[in-house]
Amino acid sequence: MSEAPIGVFDSGVGGLTVLRALLSELPHEKFIYLGDTARLPYGTKSPESVTRYAAQAAAALADRALKCLVVACNTASASSLPAMRERLPGVLVVGVIEPGAQAACEASPTGRIAVIATEGTVQGRAYQEAILRRRGDARIQAMATPLFVALAEEGLVSGPIALGVARHYLAALSQAASDAPDTLVLGCTHFPMLAGVIRAALGERMRIVDSAATTAKEVRQRLEGAGLARRAGASAVRFLASDGAERFARVGSRFLARTIAPADVELIDL
Ligand code: DGL
Repeated sequence: MSEAPIGVFDSGVGGLTVLRALLSELPHEKFIYLGDTARLPYGTKSPESVTRYAAQAAAALADRALKCLVVACNTASASSLPAMRERLPGVLVVGVIEPGAQAACEASPTGRIAVIATEGTVQGRAYQEAILRRRGDARIQAMATPLFVALAEEGLVSGPIALGVARHYLAALSQAASDAPDTLVLGCTHFPMLAGVIRAALGERMRIVDSAATTAKEVRQRLEGAGLARRAGASAVRFLASDGAERFARVGSRFLARTIAPADVELIDL
């Protein structure tokens, strides 16, 4: 079973930031990455639609003998983990919200935590609840920052436009008020791409938590705990997408920080 692949699911290419963290944390594993590019974005859709899409993606992955599925999409993790688990009995299914919330609680000295995410993730309150379960006295400010998704896909991750958008969204957090948050959770797959301008807009004082790295650590611990980790051999990745192999390869190469060729992307119907 340790030879079986790990699935990584996202609404599109954003989850490649999570795959990047997984490849560095688990260098011997084989991965199957599925991006539902035909129905992206999930972040502006209702939880019912996201759950239907995510359940269909899980069903499409069910015959690939996965040992683990990482739901890299924050929006799908927030609303659809139970539906995905139901379609993948016996598979370890890990989302990004709980590890992100855990990391935020560990990082924040005061419990004043800000979360930026898609509209769907913010409205579903999954981060807020996961943080409050760990720290009942936390004071959470959650905010949708949808333009960050478009900026990251366009490759506009530095320079005056990206910095202007970051300042616009984050002005309320960067105030020097005594009750300002001390920790920010990047609660969306795309936001690590903009870490530089987010840091520039907020200053050095803010702790910035990225759920990709903490999820990768959690996956390693869970696999090792279950005796399912692959301990030797090179890593391998297969890419599946529901639309647009060329765009997946072009935009995805930036997110993964390594070249993906269009011929490496297999199109599937969900
Ligand atoms: N992958 C989504 C997330 O992390 C962002 C992109 C989308 O809206 O589909 O929430």
